[in-house]
This record gives sequence, C-alpha cells and structure tokens, in this order.
Amino acid sequence: MERVVKYFLFLTIVAAFPEMDLPLQEWKKLVQPYTPECIDQSTQQLLDNFWNHGEVSDNAGFKCALKCIATKLDILSSEGNINISNVQKFHGVTEEVARLCAQTTEVDPCQIIYNLIGCCCRMMTEE
Ligand SMILES: *[C@@H]1O[C@H](CO)[C@@H](O)[C@H](O)[C@H]1NC(C)=O
Repeated sequence: MERVVKYFLFLTIVAAFPEMDLPLQEWKKLVQPYTPECIDQSTQQLLDNFWNHGEVSDNAGFKCALKCIATKLDILSSEGNINISNVQKFHGVTEEVARLCAQTTEVDPCQIIYNLIGCCCRMMTEE
C-alpha cells in the first residue's frame, strides 16, 4: 500500500523547487486564513508538501484548491483575469515576475493559477 501511495505521489509531483530559495513560510502565513475554505483532507497533504519541500503537485483537485485561494486573495477575478498587483502580495514576487508569469493563453482557471505559481517559483529560484 505504501509503495502504491509513493508511486502515486511520484507521478503527480511535477515540480520541486529548492525550498530554501522561496519565502514559503511568509507565503504560508498569507494563505493560511483561506485554507479551511479551500483545502480538504486530500489536498492538505499536497499543500504541506509545498510548504515543507517546495513540491508543487499537478493533482487536479490541488490545482483547483490553489485557484480557490487565489480567488480569495483577489488574484484571480471571476472573469479569469489575473490582478498583477495582488500577485505581489506574495513576498518576493516582483512586478516584473508577476507580469511575465501572468501572460497566458490558458482558459482553465485552475490551470492558470497552477501555471502562475510554477512560473513565479521558477523565476525566483533560477537566479
Ligand atoms: C487589483 O486589485 C486591487 C486591489 O484589490 C484593485 O484596487 C485594482 O483595481 C485591481 N486591478 C485591476 C486591474 O483589476
């Protein structure tokens, strides 16, 4: 059973960022008030993997949980537009990074937010 779970997790983790290079604890503080409404039991573990290991899962439910949080932070409007200045509520995300990462042709709001987060993490860890 444990092996199956590990295999499953291995398949769904698509990005692991060096956690020391990201202000994850600051981000966690920002997001925490919205997690009870947006995160359920199955996505909690995946969120913890991000806070503790910088791992971003591509699990569909997790992506939509992130979208839920982004909507509460007014990062994503009901029309699916990204608010650049609100993306900068995430400590360390510059306007330049927010602008570059907000450019998308994606239409699925869960995927838009997942891509946005992955892009910001990549830009912030690649210097
Ligand atoms: C972004 O959000 C801020 C604060 O919530 C708001 O004042 C601003 O008008 C929004 N910008 C856009 C382009 O919607």
